[in-house]
Amino acid sequence: MGEQDFTDVAVWGCGSIGLSLAASFAARRLAVLGCDIDGGRLARIADGSACRTEPDLARSVRAGLESGLLRFTHELGTADAIRAHIIAVPTPWRDGDGFDDRPLQAAIEGILAVAGPRDAICIRSTVPIGVTAALARRLKAAGRDMDVACTPDRSIEGASYREQFSTPHLIGADDPAAAGRIGRLFSRLGEILICGSAAEAEAAKLVCNATRDAMFGLANEVGRLLDGLGLDGRAVCAAAGRGYARFALPPPGPVGGPCLMKDTHLLLDAAPADAAPVIRAARARNHAIPAEVAGAIAAHVADLTEARVALLGIAFKGRPAVADLRGSPALEIAALLRRDSRHRIVVWDAEVEAAAAQRQGLSAEISPLAAARGAAAIVLANDHPALRALDFDALLAAAHPRALIYDLWGHTLGQAVTLQPGQMLRVLGGGIRRGAQEAPAP
Ligand SMILES: NC(=O)c1ccc[n+]([C@@H]2O[C@H](COP(=O)([O-])OP(=O)(O)OC[C@H]3O[C@@H](n4cnc5c(N)ncnc54)[C@H](O)[C@@H]3O)[C@@H](O)[C@H]2O)c1
Repeated sequence: MGEQDFTDVAVWGCGSIGLSLAASFAARRLAVLGCDIDGGRLARIADGSACRTEPDLARSVRAGLESGLLRFTHELGTADAIRAHIIAVPTPWRDGDGFDDRPLQAAIEGILAVAGPRDAICIRSTVPIGVTAALARRLKAAGRDMDVACTPDRSIEGASYREQFSTPHLIGADDPAAAGRIGRLFSRLGEILICGSAAEAEAAKLVCNATRDAMFGLANEVGRLLDGLGLDGRAVCAAAGRGYARFALPPPGPVGGPCLMKDTHLLLDAAPADAAPVIRAARARNHAIPAEVAGAIAAHVADLTEARVALLGIAFKGRPAVADLRGSPALEIAALLRRDSRHRIVVWDAEVEAAAAQRQGLSAEISPLAAARGAAAIVLANDHPALRALDFDALLAAAHPRALIYDLWGHTLGQAVTLQPGQMLRVLGGGIRRGAQEAPAP
């Protein structure tokens, strides 16, 4: 194997990552067929709503569809073409059950049903170490001697299309000829790096996200430590990093989304239970944040018979902007607060449509101000720039007289926020400010 280049690309799974990759190859003039089992997803790709928050991806998909180079289907058939089958299906990790490889196995079965002998399989999904080599062994044992490689995606959701052309593509295969052939395909997009083995590429991807998770965990630990010492952790870290590149800690903040938590678990799953205690501790620190925030809010409103809580920014992140609710810290906070029937949760998000919030059982307001009206707690839950631009005095004027603003991302720092007596502003890792006490009546 390994000698002949591909005429076509088939992408299995056209979600956040698969769609960007499919459009990128079509933009490089390759014929691409995207296959997804979710008809709703295919409809959203066709009407453009799947790329609402990524305009360059939307333009590329439209151009690909118009040129005929990019097509989509829910069922891929056999073909005379020599195809690279790229798998971009979910690879979830489930509490208690671990890695769920069913979508991956279903995609592999789908490929094997239609693939020709010169086709190849590239695993783009993030997988535990050893999955690619196990697939290669399985194919060989079945007499299907196809090229197999791990070609993980390291782009950032929300700017994934752009990063297909700027982030080096890791290529890992245990057969050097397969690595070379699949590497040539990905070099159509940009820089490639051929790893020493399939396992090396799998591990490199997991290590990228596990160390990112750990860096956030360390930032959250430092923020908590300084907070406990009565210091403004954000101010301390800003001073520490100013003009000093050797201090490179990100700011504290909740960690969400479909990848960081999962990928850390996928990496640790292969290791003994006592390995990597630092990474585990950082994960635990990040994991604890939504419960700590929910606990602080519940305590603040404990003496009210009914408390409205406004969660602003419910997508799992705001920069780059996404409308993705997977692994959303705000949803986790909402779920914890809803255990107490006195808490009335309302939400607002600059990107998430009201219908999507309603599908989560949440009541969506049309503006931040509408959400804040009468709220005893207002949470600035993600890092979307629209939250920094809010008129906090207007929110507080509309809110409950004893409202708490819980700012999880430092949006309020450096802004004039007028707290009425009884109101409170708390910044994650950045201390607490209270409204001045009312002067005693004369
Ligand atoms: N989202 C990210 O930012 C990101 C970044 C890097 C890597 N990844 C990895 O990429 C993979 C995909 O992630 P995603 O966020 O794009 O997931 P996603 O859920 O957005 O998309 C996956 C798509 O695969 C489809 N699918 C499921 N089974 C299928 C099958 N058998 N055949 C065809 N289609 C099928 C689903 O319908 C869905 O549309 C995961 O392993 C993830 O860890 C994601």
